[in-house]
Amino acid sequence: MTLIPCQREAFDIPEDIAYLNCAYQSPLSRKVVAAGEGAIKDKSHPWDTLAADFFTHPDKARGLFSRIIGGDADGVAVIPSVSYGIAAAAKNLPINKGEEILVLQDQFPSNVNSWRRLAEEKSASVRTLSRSSSTPHNGPAWTEVLLESISDQTAIVALPQCHWVDGAMVDLHAVSANARAHGAALVLDLTQSLGALPFDASAVQPDFAIAASYKWLMGPYAIGFMWVHPKWRNGTPLEESWIGRKGAEDFARLVDYQDEYDKGSRRFDMGERAQLQLMPMAIAAMEQLLDWGIDSIAETLAAKTETIAARVRDLGFRALPVGTRAGHYLGLSHDTDLPEGLVQSLTQHNVYVSVRGSSVRVTPHVYTSADDIERLIVALAQELGSE
Ligand SMILES: Cc1ncc(COP(=O)(O)O)c(C=O)c1O
Repeated sequence: MTLIPCQREAFDIPEDIAYLNCAYQSPLSRKVVAAGEGAIKDKSHPWDTLAADFFTHPDKARGLFSRIIGGDADGVAVIPSVSYGIAAAAKNLPINKGEEILVLQDQFPSNVNSWRRLAEEKSASVRTLSRSSSTPHNGPAWTEVLLESISDQTAIVALPQCHWVDGAMVDLHAVSANARAHGAALVLDLTQSLGALPFDASAVQPDFAIAASYKWLMGPYAIGFMWVHPKWRNGTPLEESWIGRKGAEDFARLVDYQDEYDKGSRRFDMGERAQLQLMPMAIAAMEQLLDWGIDSIAETLAAKTETIAARVRDLGFRALPVGTRAGHYLGLSHDTDLPEGLVQSLTQHNVYVSVRGSSVRVTPHVYTSADDIERLIVALAQELGSE
């Protein structure tokens, strides 16, 4: 497979800015910005907005998201945030007194908070799994820990595909099979991987799989998507929106109140799911990703992070090896304590990364150039006093 050449011109990123923080949020490409500008302009001419747009745009987005997640389009719901999707899953999944919900240590709170509430309400518990408290890079892999921990007491396993702190991977095929064998549901927050790492819902068979748009799906903030397994598609949504009901296309008959939901997972759509301004951007972003190809994106980003990992080794940074970590995601730990305010000092060099826990998180994308990587190395060397 050929690597994607640097796509800098598709983005409005000045040459001297090394933006290595896609895991925080992606920049919008020029195409996505144009789609958003068009959509905002449309709102100044509401007489041009077709009633059909309330239905065709979300359905187009469902189709694109379904190709990225490897599930059917009818199974996709439009949501505003990960926490919303997880709350919908928590509302629908059964759990009995004394049973457990498994999460990973330091998992992102949107995939923890609803589970804590559910556990409290049902006299169940959230069990936080850890690899090893002191040396996470040397501990067992998450998959091993999960396979050892899932039992008949487990009602729900709530996971990412890769950990948001250091990109450590979970083998979701193995975990899913194990969870199913124990009658446990699998809920996935794919926000830090979908769009940059291949995923196949038809093979993994999660119960709910969710992703926000504004990171690796390269779309706007405040919109996301959730694929729901067929077995939960007759569930109860968080909201009872008019547009999620059967026959909502017939605006003249909306007050013939309809108890029946629209088909598939549309009942789980957020209120105002047409998102007339955001949806065209989310669509343009997913079209762009599919044009590049998810496999090609994954390989291209893996090559970039490998280059960075090799270059920072001499500066005392260590990363999980590819295979153990997701290719697009680099969490660098240092032999010594990181200098106070490192993120801030790197911005003085026009270098943008994050610190999460004790990891410097470096997450490039197809716009990342060789010059960006050089700028990062020089800035790190200076700030760590190695130069
Ligand atoms: C793993 C993960 N999930 C979810 C989110 C965002 O959650 P929400 O959409 O609930 O704001 C983030 C943001 O950093 C994240 O890293």
